[in-house]
Amino acid sequence: MHDPDDKSSTLTLHLPDEVATDAFGHQLAPLLHPGMVVWLDGDLGAGKTTLVRALLRARHHAGPVKSPTYTLVEIYVISRIYWYHFDFYR
Ligand SMILES: Nc1ncnc2c1ncn2[C@@H]1O[C@H](COP(=O)(O)OP(=O)(O)O)[C@@H](O)[C@H]1O
Ligand SMILES: [Mg+2]
Repeated sequence: MHDPDDKSSTLTLHLPDEVATDAFGHQLAPLLHPGMVVWLDGDLGAGKTTLVRALLRARHHAGPVKSPTYTLVEIYVISRIYWYHFDFYR
């Protein structure tokens, strides 16, 4: 389970604008594999969904990518791999 105090697998980056976040998403996307979980920690509007959108775009998802604030989870099936975008805001 995710332990927010365990910094051994934590990456902290400053992404100054949306272009930088998009570029990082495209760099990170090829490194993700089935079974992996990526936790994005940040205030509302910090850019978490923007990063998820970049990841999915990098994997050639062309449709909309919206924040699962109300639905709790949005599921994308790309090349038979399921991507689950959860929002644990509440
Ligand atoms: N460095 C940045 N990275 C990502 N988004 C940014 C950045 N700077 C400004 N923005 C803007 O901030 C908003 C972030 O919204 P969103 O990704 O939905 O946030 P979250 O999912 O964390 O609530 C977007 O409108 C985006 O254009
Ligand atoms: Mg969001």
